[in-house]
Amino acid sequence: MAPRKLAAGNWKMNGTLASLAEIDQIRATPAECDVLICPPATLIQAVAATGIATGGQDCHANASGAHTGDIAAAQLRDVGASHVILGHSERRTDHAETDPQVAAKAIAAHQAGLVAAICVGETETQRDSGATLDVISAQLAASVPDCTTAANTVIAYEPVWAIGTGRTPTDAQIAEVHALMRDRLSARFADGADITLLYGGSVKPGNAAEIFAIPHVNGALVGGASLKAADFGPIITAL
Ligand code: G3H
Repeated sequence: MAPRKLAAGNWKMNGTLASLAEIDQIRATPAECDVLICPPATLIQAVAATGIATGGQDCHANASGAHTGDIAAAQLRDVGASHVILGHSERRTDHAETDPQVAAKAIAAHQAGLVAAICVGETETQRDSGATLDVISAQLAASVPDCTTAANTVIAYEPVWAIGTGRTPTDAQIAEVHALMRDRLSARFADGADITLLYGGSVKPGNAAEIFAIPHVNGALVGGASLKAADFGPIITAL
């Protein structure tokens, strides 16, 4: 089995019911890959009802309980989600999420039958100091749980400095990190060679095809350019 190709949109804290018109257009895009939209929690049920694969942007590690404002993995599943993004750098920064917490959430996601889209990525300071590969290795080791399979997990490499900035790594830099991820995952998991690896960070219609041609890049986790079908559609077709 080869890794499945995936074009995933992370709407972050954007979108209202009016945004469902974009979903209709995205669904009409010819696709030779899986297409996933991760809207804010308020829209998950409505987006899932359109028939497009839908994901949450976070879940709690516990199955239920007194956790005001949080959402359990099974609750995401209950309203139609099939995936959940975990360990996004904005969660790691804004909510001080740690690698062990991300791993615990991934286990909860797997137990609920969700695919965990686990994010890793270095800061600009870490890249400038030459620590990128060590950072990614450490995040993979501690954020990705032992129950990971190619069926229940997707890994997204998102350099923090490339998110929402219009800056992207060179092809060689993306290739180096994706090769490292493939190597680490293949060494650790029986089907690690089949785990879908995404690149994320300022993916646009104009750079998608070039990024998708890089070895071990099996798709993208797209933020800003996933909000409008006019932008996300060409990214989908490039994959
Ligand atoms: O989850 C998506 C990433 O943070 C990338 O966001 O495409 O707006 O840079 P961006």
